[in-house]
Amino acid sequence: MVERVETGIHGLDDIIEGGFPKTSVTLVSGGPGTGKTLFCSQFLWHGLQIGENSLFITMEEQVDDILEDADEFGWDFQRYIDEGSFKIEYINPFRVDTGFEDNIRRKIEDIDADRIVIDSTSVIGMYADSKGKIRRRLYELINMLKKNDVTCIMTAESPKDKEGITRYGIEEFVTDGLIVLEGFGIGGEMGRKLIVHKMRKTDFKEDIYPLEFTSEGLKVEEPDKGINI
Ligand SMILES: Nc1ncnc2c1ncn2[C@@H]1O[C@H](COP(=O)(O)OP(=O)(O)O)[C@@H](O)[C@H]1O
Ligand SMILES: [Mg+2]
Repeated sequence: MVERVETGIHGLDDIIEGGFPKTSVTLVSGGPGTGKTLFCSQFLWHGLQIGENSLFITMEEQVDDILEDADEFGWDFQRYIDEGSFKIEYINPFRVDTGFEDNIRRKIEDIDADRIVIDSTSVIGMYADSKGKIRRRLYELINMLKKNDVTCIMTAESPKDKEGITRYGIEEFVTDGLIVLEGFGIGGEMGRKLIVHKMRKTDFKEDIYPLEFTSEGLKVEEPDKGINI
């Protein structure tokens, strides 16, 4: 039996056999504003609610912005920061060099993390001069995470102007799972959908699910309900 880690995204566990496989790395990709960062916060918040220590590595957004956005859903991360079970840190993408994995490993050890988020991996490639280097960096990162027994979500930005799930076309191959968030326009507002493309060790439904923002965070709806897609 594969041990499962509840995602905390309402409705998602039902379509992936109960949650992410323990110590797996799942890539959540999507265009800007599709809910990737919120997905990450929700995953970690849920972990804290069930007694799991959580680490948020942000490489794009500032810490205060993430905490403020989470506050809107009533997720008071500060309490857990004070308690020592949650840590959120900004890593400057210019510093993604050879010390990168070690830096993250130390933070994992510091709080004995059970779950971790790296938001976003797209910036890793901005300062590496070849695809080979990006791939090696990601492999080393993922190996380190697995050795340290953490369950991970990484995010990646999908390019708007070109084909493909991620900017470099690498991340989706090195991770165990791939969830794509898509935005589509209805009037001035963005509707969203969620598709599970890959999840190792797991049976999953390949339907296109409407993804809603609720007062409790993201919710995966039944494929035949809600907005037309
Ligand atoms: N309660 C809400 N209802 C609807 N949309 C929201 C709500 N909270 C945030 N958003 C929208 O969600 C998006 C932010 O999601 P975010 O997780 O930061 O996306 P990403 O990380 O993919 O860029 C923004 O477009 C914001 O306007
Ligand atoms: Mg984001």
